[in-house]
Amino acid sequence: MSIQQNLNTLRHPVSNAPEKSPFNAGETLKEQTSPLRVLLLGSGGRECALAWKIAQSPLLDHLFIAPGNGGTDAYGENVELSPLDFDGIARFVADNAIDMIVVGNEDPLVAGIFDYFDGREGAPLIVGPSKAGAALEGSKDFAKQFMVRHSIPTARYRSFTADTLAEGEKFLSELRPPYVLKADGLAAGKGVLIIDDLEEAKGSLREMLGGMFGQSSATVVIEEFLKGIECSVFVLTDGNGGYRILPVAKDYKRIGEGDTGPNTGGMGAVSPVAFADEEFMRKVEERIILPTVNGLISEGITYRGFIFLGLIEVDGEPMVIEYNVRMGDPETEVVMLRIASDLLPLLAAAAAGNLSTMPLAIDPRYATTVMVVSGGYPGSYPKGKVITAPAMADGTTLFHAGTKRDSDGNLVTSGGRVIACSAYGHDLDEALAASFTAAGEVEFEGKYFRRDIGADLRAIEQSRK
Ligand code: AMP
Ligand code: GLY
Repeated sequence: MSIQQNLNTLRHPVSNAPEKSPFNAGETLKEQTSPLRVLLLGSGGRECALAWKIAQSPLLDHLFIAPGNGGTDAYGENVELSPLDFDGIARFVADNAIDMIVVGNEDPLVAGIFDYFDGREGAPLIVGPSKAGAALEGSKDFAKQFMVRHSIPTARYRSFTADTLAEGEKFLSELRPPYVLKADGLAAGKGVLIIDDLEEAKGSLREMLGGMFGQSSATVVIEEFLKGIECSVFVLTDGNGGYRILPVAKDYKRIGEGDTGPNTGGMGAVSPVAFADEEFMRKVEERIILPTVNGLISEGITYRGFIFLGLIEVDGEPMVIEYNVRMGDPETEVVMLRIASDLLPLLAAAAAGNLSTMPLAIDPRYATTVMVVSGGYPGSYPKGKVITAPAMADGTTLFHAGTKRDSDGNLVTSGGRVIACSAYGHDLDEALAASFTAAGEVEFEGKYFRRDIGADLRAIEQSRK
């Protein structure tokens, strides 16, 4: 299908969410056959990979990234604007004739950026759910209740507040260790505790309800521990029952090799994932994706954007560990590599409520990413270290995360996760070799990366041969 044909499908979005009036942004998209002016919100490796992909689109007029990082300006124009400054974003949208906002990180979505623009004169298209939809990530209790309402497989659970602490302690003693305690609200990826000892778990429950994660842990979800291997499934949905399943990825959350040490934002990622085969994905689609997409519609929740399913395979069966309402980081740094289609018309169609006729072609090659991080991360670490990197081989891309330009124009570190070294390969070994080579060549004082990214999947692939 040509881009021209794709664009024609963007007209007249219709919502079949019964009680809610359809978001009118599709109607306000100016000339749908003309190139799009896009504002991407966020500053991580995920946004760098999204910017890289969007910038390749023949449909793009201009890409702005707010605030972006030291690498995103290779693909568009960085603007000093906080993703949470909705009034500032609205002024920027009006002044710069923005057609579409792509929301990279969860905070603006949970804070209601979609609802802020909904129904406004001249509102841009927004890739991302309404505030009600963003509660799938913003409240673990809401997400669990949603899964129960729609019979979506997930761990058995109960939620507790300070008023029901005694019941929470009793529930813990009825479960088998390890105990899984989750702060209900956003906690920058730190709100999940997995504890082996019952008394320690009870103590942590008391501390969480007492404000360990502020208001985010005023409610705590306690759930059964699931044993299995995890993967990340991404769905782009249009709120009208249309959806596309993006390439599956696996990330590596712990700082240390062999999955040891504290959790990080993610130390690397691989796609495809050997165990997420056709049979597994058929179950995921039937039991999880369809009930999620249709459940949102039946509850009148407007959701036009990415759904991130954190899944665990337990004895061959997929179960949901968590929902996120955005793409994963560093999963995006491999998923974007594997999307062969032009992403921009897909995003615009999702935001306009009309994805069902859009093709999605997947690159059959492997993609891997190895995150080079600052020494000390995820604890405290220095910033401002000068970064050097030689030109990369074809097929290797450095997606910047915690980088910026200092006043002398040097590229310096500005975060824990610094650069995602992403590469293609015809097999997993080839992609990994290229990612590790790149990670070895990126230099700054105190750098660290895990050398075992993908090792578990290599073992699974070898055992299946
Ligand atoms: P979440 O923030 O919900 O993704 O949880 C962080 C991590 O904790 C997940 O990626 C899992 O590795 C682990 N986890 C969360 N819930 C469970 C569970 N019910 N059973 C086993 N591991 C879990
Ligand atoms: N890599 C996991 C996340 O983005 O939440």
